[in-house]
Amino acid sequence: MKVLVIGTGAREHAIVRSLTLDPSVDAVIAAPGNPGIDAIALCRELPQGLLDGEGIAALAAELKVDLVVVGPEAPLVAGAADAVRERGIACFGPTAKAARLEGSKAFAKEIMAEAGVPTALAHVCTTVDEVASALEVFGAPYVVKDDGLAAGKGVVVTSNRAHALAHAVQCLERRDSTIVVEEFLDGPEISLFCITDGTTVVPLAPAQDFKRLSDNDEGPNTGGMGAYSPLDWAPASLVQDVVDRVAQPTVDEMRHQGMPFAGVLYIGLALTSRGLRVIEFNARFGDPETQVVLARLATPLGGLLYAAAVGKLDVEAPLRWRPDHAVTVVVASKGYPNSPRTGEIIEGMSQVGDEAYVLHAGTALDKHGSLVSAGGRVLSVVATGADLTQARDRAYRAVDRIGLKGSTYRTDIALAAQRGEITVPQ
Ligand code: AMP
Ligand code: GLY
Repeated sequence: MKVLVIGTGAREHAIVRSLTLDPSVDAVIAAPGNPGIDAIALCRELPQGLLDGEGIAALAAELKVDLVVVGPEAPLVAGAADAVRERGIACFGPTAKAARLEGSKAFAKEIMAEAGVPTALAHVCTTVDEVASALEVFGAPYVVKDDGLAAGKGVVVTSNRAHALAHAVQCLERRDSTIVVEEFLDGPEISLFCITDGTTVVPLAPAQDFKRLSDNDEGPNTGGMGAYSPLDWAPASLVQDVVDRVAQPTVDEMRHQGMPFAGVLYIGLALTSRGLRVIEFNARFGDPETQVVLARLATPLGGLLYAAAVGKLDVEAPLRWRPDHAVTVVVASKGYPNSPRTGEIIEGMSQVGDEAYVLHAGTALDKHGSLVSAGGRVLSVVATGADLTQARDRAYRAVDRIGLKGSTYRTDIALAAQRGEITVPQ
């Protein structure tokens, strides 16, 4: 099988890595990819960019691939999967219509309401006055979200009412936007990826992401600064509960409404004192959670994604997992997320050794052929171990060997879990 992977990040690097380890996959091409992906697969350009669904479909046809895997949300929301399927090529990723589960928070709330999925109570607002009264209704801490895609940066959670209102004003001014104000959810957050062909749901292992920039969950929200899996502290019934109460009803509702969702339904949820509540849906794999989930998946990835793309998940054998724990630490540029500084030389990559591996995100080769930073999140360092302590030690030893001027990373990825400090409120 020949597979084309769309995207540029560490998530795509992780997907490409797993595909190259699948015996049924004999060629992997990435577009546009990055220098790390280029070392293990072929990279092709996308001259018109990631939003050019026709360009993606044309490349897939030219390369005669059997499967296209779309990594990021933007091409999905722009209809890349529709364009690929129109050419008769199998595509892992939902149609533009179905990707609205991620593309519009208000739409996701409607589907959840119709499917009876537990989520935070929310008010959808289009004026500052509506936002102000919604803030009154829910009280502090306030949760204010931009309706559309914002790369994880459209959400403000704060106890400062003025700050909450200012975020809403800013979103409303920036474009003709809708604001979602919702109740605050207490309790630990998890990410669960459910592979689906539109009917059958196959959950992967849950992971935990670290969204804030700095240790102790301080600083601004980011795309994600690290992750680990599995979650030993979570209730044993968690995955089945999420499939039964969230994933299957949502997939069924989408199909009944004539917009079947095939691809990966990423469920972000909080385990609150009142039970599980969905925080968000995404229509693609999460970054950096994918890096740790795929580090543990023993079932070949290509066959699984192909089965989802062609509606054959019901005949897939149960997934197999390695018993290891996996941790990933993201190394980010100085100034991330607001104004990341790029073009800095990345050193020490060859000193990492074989205890860990480094997935590329925002990297590039400069005109001398040196590896330099080219984005906010630059690298995702992944390690596995017999327990979280070993996986963390290996990951952080590797991080320490990498030199990137001004870079930052969190030092507490998976630390609370390692110490047994995570509890689910009763
Ligand atoms: P989202 O883009 O909806 O995933 O939100 C980004 C982050 O904001 C989430 O991962 C949570 O950490 C936080 N967040 C979002 N909604 C809520 C909520 N209702 N209560 C508490 N935290 C939230
Ligand atoms: N890790 C969060 C995301 O991919 O949206």
